[in-house]
Amino acid sequence: MPQVPLWESEEMYKRSFRALIDNSNIRQSALLHLNQDAAAEALKKVIDTVDPSEPLKILGIGSGPGDKDLLILPTIGEYFTSKKGKKPALQNVIVEPSSCLLDEFKAKVSSLPPLLQQITESISFEWHQKTFREFHEETAEKNRFQLIHFYHSIYYLDVEYALRSCFEEHLTTDSGVILCLVQAEDSYIALVSHKFKGKLSCGSEDMSFRTDQELVAIAEKHGWKYSVPLKEQFEINVTSCLAEEPTERGDLLIDFLTQQQNFRATAEPDLYHSVIEFIDSLTFTKENGDKFVQGRSAVVIIYK
Ligand SMILES: C[S@@+](CC[C@H](N)C(=O)[O-])C[C@H]1O[C@@H](n2cnc3c(N)ncnc32)[C@H](O)[C@@H]1O
Repeated sequence: MPQVPLWESEEMYKRSFRALIDNSNIRQSALLHLNQDAAAEALKKVIDTVDPSEPLKILGIGSGPGDKDLLILPTIGEYFTSKKGKKPALQNVIVEPSSCLLDEFKAKVSSLPPLLQQITESISFEWHQKTFREFHEETAEKNRFQLIHFYHSIYYLDVEYALRSCFEEHLTTDSGVILCLVQAEDSYIALVSHKFKGKLSCGSEDMSFRTDQELVAIAEKHGWKYSVPLKEQFEINVTSCLAEEPTERGDLLIDFLTQQQNFRATAEPDLYHSVIEFIDSLTFTKENGDKFVQGRSAVVIIYK
């Protein structure tokens, strides 16, 4: 990913992400439902003010390969139809700086799932291969969207700048909702990145694993309405990271947990051992002796 300079290539990032998937229950249905339920919770905040004869305009920021966007669109379509008695016209604007990920998203859209075609009156996509800042600075058309979402992408942005720009200049003037999926305060990654702030860059100097509490603090500071309607936890088996003998599997997972490629080989030994000790201190042990840390995602909704 271009915004994650400590990864040499997207391929390396994907291998390390794969290690997370293989060692966790992150793909279980509860987490898939969290993404969809989050979209329904967000839509509830604006549905009364939506004109059913107009397209529903959605801005996806940092959508990556598009899986989450495509997962939530049926939820949005069905909820809209149940409330408005007609199918929606969905206009999606996608902002994603990685050309490779954007191409993956475009490929999925080239043969849209039949369900999406059935439950929408029409559906369109407008692509912006840009950072959010570039999009914001180059977009003349303001106050256009009813729903803006950041699925685990706000970490890569100046969070206050992103939320203010969206709230004041991209949501429609009178109503609109911003949906953020972020780390919960007690998620291992939030704990690790806070504990080693300044020592462990967790991906890049500009990146920070934002938590629900940090977003709530920003909303309160600006007097915006907000809610944190949902949280869902998952478990990651970190036994291989803590083993004395290094393994490729353990190393890939450590890279994901620290968001740094080749962490074992490249980190200062003291830092490496402190991080591993800290991860160990966060673990709980299951009956078979395997050790796990807890990840937790939170849904934050900010609305007019
Ligand atoms: C952890 S991935 C999440 C992808 C997707 N939303 C998901 O949940 O599967 C973060 C995404 O944010 C994108 N990103 C990084 N910096 C960005 C920026 N400055 N503006 C917009 N998106 C950015 C990355 O390219 C990546 O696709």
